[in-house]
Amino acid sequence: MADYTLKIRRFNPESGDAAYWQDFGIDLPPERSVLDGILQAKDREDASIGIRCSCRAAICGSCGVRINGKSRLACNTRIGEAAAEAAASNGGAVVVEPMGNMPVLKDLIVDMDAVHWKKVQRVVPWLLPEGPPPDREYLVPAEAMIDVTQSMACIHCGVCVSACLSLEVDPDFIGPAALAKAYRFVGDPRDGATEERLADLAEDPHGIYDCTHCFACIEVCPKDVAPMSQIMRLRRRATDDFEIKDRNNGYGHEQAFTTLIEKYGTLHEAQLLPRSFGDGSLLKSQISPHGLKNLIPAAPTAIRGLVSGKVSPRKALTHPKLPDQNQVRRIFKQIESKDERLELNLYIVGEAGEGEPEEQVGKEGVE
Ligand code: SF4
Ligand code: SF4
Ligand code: FES
Repeated sequence: MADYTLKIRRFNPESGDAAYWQDFGIDLPPERSVLDGILQAKDREDASIGIRCSCRAAICGSCGVRINGKSRLACNTRIGEAAAEAAASNGGAVVVEPMGNMPVLKDLIVDMDAVHWKKVQRVVPWLLPEGPPPDREYLVPAEAMIDVTQSMACIHCGVCVSACLSLEVDPDFIGPAALAKAYRFVGDPRDGATEERLADLAEDPHGIYDCTHCFACIEVCPKDVAPMSQIMRLRRRATDDFEIKDRNNGYGHEQAFTTLIEKYGTLHEAQLLPRSFGDGSLLKSQISPHGLKNLIPAAPTAIRGLVSGKVSPRKALTHPKLPDQNQVRRIFKQIESKDERLELNLYIVGEAGEGEPEEQVGKEGVE
């Protein structure tokens, strides 16, 4: 047994009072969870502490909170480890507060309906099969499902939603959990609306191109769903497979990135923006009405960069190539010479079975 202090964020909208912090002393073995600590405080000191929980085994997804500032499941976080973390940062108390990016209903309980579930509904989270249903069940080759297994592992805890930095600045962003759910259907061979789904998510200003690749969702997800990787898969399907030229210039941005890296080996920042508006081409962005329309509002940003000295005409016009740039080109050539893109699931581990290429099993994804 050891003594710990939990500093819990309290808020009761019915009281009319502002949120406040309250300390609770608990005694538990270090391997027990923060959720056990909260329940002990609730049991011994104040039955009115609001916390949502059920399975206590990281399955039901109901006990998402922020512990020492990090979004996670309370039942999946050892109290001893959280206390050691707290000792290193704030001198002792384990700080527990409700998840971010969602309105607080009471104490540690947030309104999942208002944000998480609304966003999941936004991506049409069910199969839209084409044609008449088969006489019996749909038969799907096992390997076709490997790619979606990772997104199927989501327990809808909302922890990634809480941690998402894009959602913090744009509450309308569809968000990591819902987009991971979207990939579950985009990657399902039974679905007949793949292109429509992708076009919808690409054209939405709060869709797949609103993610800033901050990796926060990957870091916090307790089920290794890696929502950001699912978003990248959606993008690849939209750009490479369907060549959806969206109004958010996501397609152009991807083309611009790859064109510049292939040419210079490092990112020529000054060309990234204009090339993005021209589907990767500098010339096209300057002569096509669509590119010009996008370039004009970007002009003040460029002027500010020049005035502040962040951008110099020399830097804007010239960009050094890597000394071994040919090696970068060789990598591009090698990847492009493959007939099929290799998308490996990060989730499946195990032995290669008969007939399965050994390198495709139990390995991190090559994307
Ligand atoms: S990687 Fe994208 S979706 Fe994930 S937390 Fe960051 S901004 Fe949000
Ligand atoms: S993707 Fe992970 S963190 Fe996000 S809701 Fe699903 S299980 Fe929770
Ligand atoms: S109580 Fe079910 S996931 Fe924590």
